Amino acid sequence: MLSTIVFVLFVSMVLIAIYDVFQTKHSITRNYPLIGHIRFIAESLGPYLRAFFYARDREEKPFNRTERSWIYRASKNASAVVSFGTTRNLNEKGSMYFVSSPFPVQEIDAIKTKPITIGPHARNPYTTTSLINISGMSYGSISKNAVIALAKGAKLSGCWMNTGEGGLTEYHLAGGCDLVAQIGTAKYGYRTLDGKLSDECLRKAASYPQVKMFEIKLSQGAKPGRGGLLPAKKVTAEIAAIRGIAPHEDSISPNRFPEINSAEDLLDMINHVREVTGKPTGFKVVLGNYDWLHVLFKLINKRGVESAPDFITLDGKEGGTGAAPISLTDYMGLPLAESLPALVDLLNQYSLRERIKVIASGKLVTPSMVCWALCVGADFVNSARGFLFALGCIQAMRCHTNNCPTGITTHNAFLMRGLDPTDKSVRVGHYVKNLEQEVGEICHSCGVHEPRELTRAHLRMVSAFGTSVAFSELYPDVIPDKSPSTS
Ligand SMILES: Cc1cc2nc3c(=O)[nH]c(=O)nc-3n(C[C@H](O)[C@H](O)[C@H](O)COP(=O)(O)O)c2cc1C
Repeated sequence: MLSTIVFVLFVSMVLIAIYDVFQTKHSITRNYPLIGHIRFIAESLGPYLRAFFYARDREEKPFNRTERSWIYRASKNASAVVSFGTTRNLNEKGSMYFVSSPFPVQEIDAIKTKPITIGPHARNPYTTTSLINISGMSYGSISKNAVIALAKGAKLSGCWMNTGEGGLTEYHLAGGCDLVAQIGTAKYGYRTLDGKLSDECLRKAASYPQVKMFEIKLSQGAKPGRGGLLPAKKVTAEIAAIRGIAPHEDSISPNRFPEINSAEDLLDMINHVREVTGKPTGFKVVLGNYDWLHVLFKLINKRGVESAPDFITLDGKEGGTGAAPISLTDYMGLPLAESLPALVDLLNQYSLRERIKVIASGKLVTPSMVCWALCVGADFVNSARGFLFALGCIQAMRCHTNNCPTGITTHNAFLMRGLDPTDKSVRVGHYVKNLEQEVGEICHSCGVHEPRELTRAHLRMVSAFGTSVAFSELYPDVIPDKSPSTS
């Protein structure tokens, strides 16, 4: 028996070696038959070996082991207590610290997050106490089971869920949570046969009481200048029917709305959607420069504050995606660390800070990062990948292949079976609860009662000299107006 196995192995190796010598695609194996394959095997195993054995706790990207472990523990409702001291490099340029108060808020004096009303001029304003919400991920980019688990988890924790640009589906509605319906550039779910915005579809979506707001997606951090991209492998017959496209072909959204060519057009579209749906309406964007915001905010003040978007969702360039070209993911757009203070300052400058709520996203997945965003001026935080980790994501980085090993970004029935929506919805609920709890602990240490009382005075950042500077010194209040109309 053994000799047969050895013989078969030997013959296979000889055949592979002969093939290697005569093939013309790979010079390595042509020059080094058989052993040249070791290079390819090592290359494909590299990411796993580095992730499991070699990468240090705070080294991996996009999310390091420390961040992921915190989310895994929070989702399982396990203790997040550590001992012996921090392993953070405290003197690294850009590191942040919160300013501890000599007189922290006692637990007995802590108050719950106060409710906020978004869209006071809409027929149906939205009032919510939620702080951390589920960012847009379409049904298509993520699986049916993942959508259901997130929707149920959002209901358990009282946060909202954004549908992403693939349209509103029965799976989003199944959880009973508050929903933000996203309108992407392809208008999936909200378009007429000739590609225009369909008022009928908007009205239908708005007729669900669960749908609280509408978000017009101009861009997302991982791929500004590129619309949504759902590879053919993931466009099942059901998803194609929901989107109104052909199955098993790439689903590619345009890189912008053809009808939005200026700040005027954007305001027109926002006001149209709000008028038709009666619900608060805002837009999602990643910033590249600030000039057009001067134009937009001046226009709002000219038309009247009722015309303003009810919220702006600001996505940082560090944002995630189900599929995008690497050049855009790596190089296009501004990270949140730059764009969030700028947006908040500009809103203040044009006296629109109260009117337009700011929702920030981009790696805001742990309590410290949520508090950072609140200190800088965000009203709400959205996360996509934080919630994927809560669902069990292992950062395999294969969302675009339809082979996600945890069943989150795949429609392969076998892989999806691994994700039990009921069990994972509980984890989503725990994640939000524990995130809010630890955000509360940071707040109380800073001496504030409620997360939205955090200000830039509570944040310091390490400078090139290795000592920290107050955040307000690093980011002066006003962004100079260099928009064409005023220069
Ligand atoms: C799998 C996946 C799918 C996404 N789909 C959408 C989408 O349909 N619409 C959108 O605006 N953003 C989409 N995003 C971006 C997220 O909504 C979010 O803006 C970004 O990932 C930043 O949040 P995070 O750093 O917490 O992941 C997607 C992200 C991921 C990971």
